[in-house]
Amino acid sequence: MTSVSPASLPALRVAVLGAGTVGTEVIRLIAEQGEDLAHRIGARLEVIGVAARDLERDRGPHVPRALLTADASALVRQADLVIEVMGGIEPARSLLLEAMEHGASVVTANKALLAQDGVTLYEAADAHGVDLHFEAAVAGAIPLVRPVRESLAGDRIQRVLGIVNGTTNYVLDAMTRTGASFQDALASAQELGYAEADPTADVQGHDAAAKASILASLAFHSRVNLSEVHCEGITEVSAQDIAAASRMGRTIKLLSIVERVGEGESERISARVYPALIPSSHPLASVSEAFNAVFIEADAAGSLMFYGQGAGGAPTASAVLGDAVSAARQRVHGGVGPREYSYAELAVAPLAELRSAFYVSLTVQDRPGVLAAIAGTFSAHGISISTIHQELLEDGEEPARAHIGITTHTAVESAMTAALTDFAGTATVLDVDSVLRIEGE
Ligand code: NDP
Ligand code: HSE
Repeated sequence: MTSVSPASLPALRVAVLGAGTVGTEVIRLIAEQGEDLAHRIGARLEVIGVAARDLERDRGPHVPRALLTADASALVRQADLVIEVMGGIEPARSLLLEAMEHGASVVTANKALLAQDGVTLYEAADAHGVDLHFEAAVAGAIPLVRPVRESLAGDRIQRVLGIVNGTTNYVLDAMTRTGASFQDALASAQELGYAEADPTADVQGHDAAAKASILASLAFHSRVNLSEVHCEGITEVSAQDIAAASRMGRTIKLLSIVERVGEGESERISARVYPALIPSSHPLASVSEAFNAVFIEADAAGSLMFYGQGAGGAPTASAVLGDAVSAARQRVHGGVGPREYSYAELAVAPLAELRSAFYVSLTVQDRPGVLAAIAGTFSAHGISISTIHQELLEDGEEPARAHIGITTHTAVESAMTAALTDFAGTATVLDVDSVLRIEGE
């Protein structure tokens, strides 16, 4: 058998947009694995330029300064394959559209852009007959987009549920292990480089919501925009909530949940991100540090679990490069990869209509009749209490106060909202400290 020399293979011109955490690792992997990749593709990946803002900063041995350019637009016009790892909405969107218009296939890790305006990108890919891949946009290194989009294309997915944000998982895990406050756990995540300097999108749940929007669109063949994903972050989760969860044999995790709700003509999608209590025996409860894990439930396949590194330069670059190889193979052998299918056109159900069990934490006056009044309010809204835990607050304040943690049986969201509104007008309930859903039971 004769082996083809990679040098004799044709070159595919690759433009890399961004030379940060992910971009430098993508370029390193292309440099280090160039020969193998050439054999796998049938062509060499030749990096013709790397777009960045600061052209003076040293990017390590694999990114020579000569490759750096501030003119990303000129770069994409010369490329066969564009890898976008710069992030943000603009100029990333315009550059990807320009690249596709010029016939280049594109790979992006940009979940914010896909969740906000994926439709424009999908339509451009279709119009120009090029590929659009984005495995790294959801859960970093974990193969998730491809299984949902391709491996399970013959099945009917019912639900995708999991932890898709590493920063918040690190923070909640640290709070659970050490009893630290949210602020202290976040500061430690930043010191260790897990959380970004500006972790707003992570801790407010927007990053997880963007991933939920992408997963829901793919899983249910419908267009689910970021604005349709109900999103709550972890900034209000307190050390008391973590301790209460632990006392009940539960763990708090930031969950992304996308699922089918209703049947037949009234079938819709629910897409939501919130911190929830799950049983400590649930497999997701043991997902520690910045790891991600996702369950997919499909009619024929049953339950599948995906676990691994959801962030970081090298893990994310692995997913980006997998996409680059796929797109490059399509260019060499012809044809296009999987497209966007939104034929099902399922609408998104409002959160108010959904049902879940709740944990509600209240600060109340410690006097006769308070528990009865609280139970009466829940009962008036059709909410059934499952457990009650009470602790006196021994802080010397008058009148005496107590802290009450209540779990409920499954209830409709709008009923819980109405009950909480009623509490706000009473003298007995001094504060609604937390309201968290209970999942996975
Ligand atoms: P970084 O901030 O580390 O890198 C961004 C790079 O893009 C920098 O090199 C920056 O240039 C360049 N850049 C930004 N804006 C422009 C612009 N207008 N013109 C030219 N260059 C520009 O980001 P990451 O590598 O962490 O993330 C990249 C993408 O990957 C994002 O979409 C992110 O959401 C996604 N992602 C990241 C993961 C991670 O773990 N980091 C995981 C999964 C996805 P300069 O260096 O000169 O400032
Ligand atoms: N900030 C994201 C996280 C990066 O913490 O998971 C990966 O998308």
